[in-house]
Amino acid sequence: MADIRSNFVGIKSPNPFWLASAPPTDKAYNVERAFKAGWGGVVWKTLGEEGPPIVNVNGPRYGAIWGADRRLLGLNNIELITDRALQINLQEIKQVKLAWPDRALVVSIMVPCEEESWKAILPVVEETGADGIELNFGCPHGMSERGMGSAVGQVPEYIEMVTRWCKQYTRMPVIVKLTPNITDIRYPARAAHRGGADAVSLINTISSIVSVDLDSFSPEPSINGKGSHGGYCGPAVKPIALNMVAEIARDPETAGLPISGIGGITTWRDAAEFMALGAGNVQVCTAAMTYGFKIVEEMISGLSNWMDEKGHADLDAFAGRAVRNVTDWQYLDLNYIAKARIDQDLCISCGRCHIACEDTSHQAIMKEKDGKRHFEVMDDECVGCNLCVNVCPVEDCITMVPLEPGMLDERTGRIVEDRYANWTMHPNNPSTRPTPGDVSVVEPAE
Ligand SMILES: Cc1cc2nc3c(=O)[nH]c(=O)nc-3n(C[C@H](O)[C@H](O)[C@H](O)COP(=O)(O)O)c2cc1C
Ligand code: SF4
Ligand code: SF4
Repeated sequence: MADIRSNFVGIKSPNPFWLASAPPTDKAYNVERAFKAGWGGVVWKTLGEEGPPIVNVNGPRYGAIWGADRRLLGLNNIELITDRALQINLQEIKQVKLAWPDRALVVSIMVPCEEESWKAILPVVEETGADGIELNFGCPHGMSERGMGSAVGQVPEYIEMVTRWCKQYTRMPVIVKLTPNITDIRYPARAAHRGGADAVSLINTISSIVSVDLDSFSPEPSINGKGSHGGYCGPAVKPIALNMVAEIARDPETAGLPISGIGGITTWRDAAEFMALGAGNVQVCTAAMTYGFKIVEEMISGLSNWMDEKGHADLDAFAGRAVRNVTDWQYLDLNYIAKARIDQDLCISCGRCHIACEDTSHQAIMKEKDGKRHFEVMDDECVGCNLCVNVCPVEDCITMVPLEPGMLDERTGRIVEDRYANWTMHPNNPSTRPTPGDVSVVEPAE
């Protein structure tokens, strides 16, 4: 049986599945039920400084994007940090940590970007016995207009400065939560690293407007006819999050910096992908909000079964394994040539592949043979783009088949070479000077 116990920056949990800082982690009642359901840890809903409670809107906080089956794909929210009193949160954190010593309990914090504010809150959080803190430099709405959240996360110098204060004033591990609302995620990650962060976590939500009501012309969620941008999360943001995690994992300046992966994680498979791309553990928000705390049961059993099947004894056995396979476009093998193949037994003759290929550019799928509807790929036109695979409604009906070295590529009339060759070696590359006799690589692009 695979060992899925996790040790993230010294914080131990029975599994790598933590709940992200959000409504499911905003009170003892919730967190205890989450622990009973099996979650390995939580990041408590972000605490602010002592003072009058935060005021949320009193109407809709959420907007959404759905798939054709009404499954939730993306969620947008305009909620702020906790609106419960600091002292009540602190008491509950202490009580939950005492009752659940084997689970990870990290506290998310967001206070003004002033040394005194951080100096004041850190000891009172430490006193709860919490395992660590997460600095919320990510929230893109409401708090950012007050100079906190993503307003800090978008300025690497501030990230470094606040991280340094935290390392100075607490013994707890410091996880810096990054905003994706930035051009290049490596800069804030490097700043956190320079400031002494024990880890980064990402992503927080993405600035967004999900929809506009075409009767009232109000962005949604609508508060009495007006809307404001909110934070986008859920399955739709997973690709953005995965890329950002990989960027940090393969950046020489931050290589080895522990990463807690967040963004659209709904299944064990999503979690395994984040971990393969360099995350040490994962955090989940939207999936728990949508399907409830018990969703973790399937995450645990799915991950364990897959690890058993693949012979991964523990999380370290596969963590980071995909990082070395992330490369820049210029290093992709131009001698790898694939063609689409349609399984005629599975094809339902819907014609989607033909239309997509025809109108996209390549005109490589015939739609008729012997006067009958028939869909077949013409190898002399197929560029191997795999768009047809992605639009076909029947799983595995179209597959991409690589040509073996020595075979003829009917499109280019060239024999497939048995060697790796990339753009940096290509004769069409203006910065390439092929050496005489180096009849490099592949057919130049048409
Ligand atoms: C309603 C809501 C409230 C959130 N509040 C916080 C918060 O207080 N602090 C924080 O760091 N992140 C907050 N988040 C962001 C989540 O922790 C998480 O980073 C984001 O939702 C992406 O993960 P997901 O795709 O699994 O939802 C919130 C998200 C939602 C949906
Ligand atoms: S792989 Fe691309 S070019 Fe080839 S048949 Fe499919 S859509 Fe057309
Ligand atoms: S999209 Fe798929 S099912 Fe539809 S015609 Fe093409 S191969 Fe057949």
